Amino acid sequence: MGNLLAEKKSEPSFGELTQIAIEAALLAGSILRHGFGTHFQIKSKEGHHNLVTEYDHKAERAIIDFIQKNAPDSQFLAEESGVTGNKSSLVWIIDPLDGTVNFAHQIPLFAVSIGVEKAGKMIAGVVFQPITEELFVAEKNVGSFFNGEKIGVSKVSSLKKSILATGFPYNLAENPHHCIDHFIDILRAGIPIRRLGAAAIDFAYTAAGRFEGFFEVELSPWDMAAGKLILEEAGGMITEWNGAPFDIHSKKPILATNGLIHPEAVTLLSRSS
Ligand code: IPD
Ligand code: CA
Ligand code: CA
Repeated sequence: MGNLLAEKKSEPSFGELTQIAIEAALLAGSILRHGFGTHFQIKSKEGHHNLVTEYDHKAERAIIDFIQKNAPDSQFLAEESGVTGNKSSLVWIIDPLDGTVNFAHQIPLFAVSIGVEKAGKMIAGVVFQPITEELFVAEKNVGSFFNGEKIGVSKVSSLKKSILATGFPYNLAENPHHCIDHFIDILRAGIPIRRLGAAAIDFAYTAAGRFEGFFEVELSPWDMAAGKLILEEAGGMITEWNGAPFDIHSKKPILATNGLIHPEAVTLLSRSS
């Protein structure tokens, strides 16, 4: 943690709300890091594989308490506790532990995700991976940063030369939006795909140029709020699979890319069945 805090000092001077989001994510990250690999309670939500651990709840409580103390006029939309706080134009959209299945299975790929929305517009986003100490921060019109360094999307312009990421919803067996068929189409086109198990990390990695793009169906607002701004501020493009503008509250299939491969990816994902 010492290194990360040292690196933080070299970051650009973010606004107060972004700083609060960073501090809250680091705080939750240290709770998750302490819990990782220990014995803890795991329950299933809807569906056998949709898990929640006591650390999802602990991290979410710590984030909300911290923000409430530092920005009292706040509303929250958080995965485990839903809508809470004061009715406000300042809304914090929180996934305290994105990648719960990884966390529960001792796979060190998970993140804290906090998006800050003001008057209906995302103004800041933070994704923090506590085990690798990777901190992604975006502020509207300022840019996206990885551990203090400005980042931008990859310059690869051909889908054939791309590496993509995806994830699957917990109701995968129902093949929602024909996601299994689209996955096979992309594999058949010879394009490598990674499935990390944490959507917030998929966005952040695309923003940092590690992937050319990411696609998934039925994500929730807390999976995307921070990551979407991090990718947009890094120069990426986000739409529905058919190229229409994307709303994080819509549950529609999302396509998030470096922009350059976007038209080709839309064509590939546009099969209707
Ligand atoms: C999940 C992860 C996963 C995605 C699922 C999400 P959770 O979030 O982001 O990558 O495929 O759709 O629900 O449950 O670990 O917070
Ligand atoms: Ca999530
Ligand atoms: Ca979660």
